[in-house]
Order: sequence, then C-alpha cells, then structure tokens
Amino acid sequence: MRLDKFICKSSEYSLPEALALIKQQRLVVNDQVVTEASHQIHQNNVVTLDAQRLIPRPFRYFLLHKPVDMICSNIDEQYPSVFNLLTVDRPSELHIAGRLDADTTGLVLLTDDGHWSYRLTSPKHHCEKMYKVELTRPLTADAAQRFQAGMLLQGEAVLTRPATLQVIDPYHVYLTLTEGRFHQVKRMFAAIGNRVKALHRQQIGSLSLDVELGDWRSLTAAEVQSLAGDDKSYHATTIAATHPTNTPYS
Ligand code: URA
Repeated sequence: MRLDKFICKSSEYSLPEALALIKQQRLVVNDQVVTEASHQIHQNNVVTLDAQRLIPRPFRYFLLHKPVDMICSNIDEQYPSVFNLLTVDRPSELHIAGRLDADTTGLVLLTDDGHWSYRLTSPKHHCEKMYKVELTRPLTADAAQRFQAGMLLQGEAVLTRPATLQVIDPYHVYLTLTEGRFHQVKRMFAAIGNRVKALHRQQIGSLSLDVELGDWRSLTAAEVQSLAGDDKSYHATTIAATHPTNTPYS
C-alpha cells in the first residue's frame, strides 16, 4: 500500500493531510524518513508518525442485496448509490467488487481490500458468478452449447470464457460466468437473438445471497478466505461491522 493511503488507513487524517505530513518529513519507515507519498509499505514495515507507531485498521468485507434502480457507484447519479444502504463508518474507503447494472438485483460485495477484490473480478482467477436470468423469448436448443463454446461479443476480439447454462424452463435459466465483461449477460443473450427481461446475481464463488432485499452483512473470516482461493494471507483479517445487528467496529 502507498504511504499516503497507509496513513489514512491508520488514522483519522484525510489524504491531503497525509500528504502534508509526509512533506513535513514526519513519517519514518523502518528508521528512515520517507518523503515520497508513493513509497510502498509492506506487511512487516514499521511506520511511525512523530515517533508514534501507525497500525492500519483491518480490511472490511460486506455482502449486500442490491435492489433495482440503485447504482453500483460511490456517488448518486441518475439513481441513488447502493452505498446509501450501507450504514458503516468511512463508506468512501470502500469499493464494489464487480458492479451490477441499475436494473439488475442481487449479490454485491464491497470492500476496502483491493488485492482481494482483484481476485474476484480478474478473469485470470476464474471466480464463478451465478445469475438467474429471465428472458423475453424462449431459449433455443443450441443455447447451452453456444455459451459453453464461447462467443465473440460485438466490438470485441476475444471469445468469452466457457459459460454454463442451467435451464429452469424456456424463459428462465441460471448462467454461470467466470469473468465480468461490461453488460456481459445481456450481451451474450443478445448475441444468440434473445433479450434479458430480468437479471439477478445469486452467487459469487461459494457465497450465496442470504440477506433480504436492500439489507447487508459483514462476511465472516472463513468467507473472505474462501473467496481468496489459494491465497492464504487472508486468515484472521476480518472484523465485525457497524451493522445494527452486529458488534460495532472500533
Ligand atoms: N451482466 C449484465 O449484463 N449486467 C449485470 O448487471 C451483470 C452482468
């Protein structure tokens, strides 16, 4: 993590205040005064401000059930942001790991841990996302095979990764993807001559949506670890959140 961000994560200082402190040569990393805001702080570094050790707050991880007509953005735009639903301290430090469209409902993960969210969203790590899809036209017989084979979406040069279609009835399917391109589900159905009427994300990796519409909860340490795959550095990193039904975060 950059030194300026590390200061913000370990104190109540804002980013401009952190930059000023660095300029004033008040930050010491492993006994060396550091004057570069971009200086990378690693796990075992000892960072002090005016000889006081800075200890970063633990990362936070939340699951939220997104309603329609809310957007996955840090600010309100045409629709209100899903952050309005999340009553936690310092919401501006969080980002969304895999956005949903305004008209899509379902499972959204929010965190301040960029390394963890990269693992969920990068196509390199093949994290499965399962969607329930309602269609405007009945599914054609070759749909599952075409999704499995991969397809070229309009304006793209790389085939989609194999996707698994599970048919509920001709108008309803579960679709599992291991990547998250822009409007991917809608564009894949458009590519086979169909249209998405309603879209809902039900699962990310081993995590299923288990809170009511508009509600949220913290992830457990085991859930954070399981979504991190084989990266063992996530043990004991989670915390209780400021959800009204949970222990306050301190
Ligand atoms: N694919 C879409 O088309 N929309 C979403 O919201 C998520 C995946």
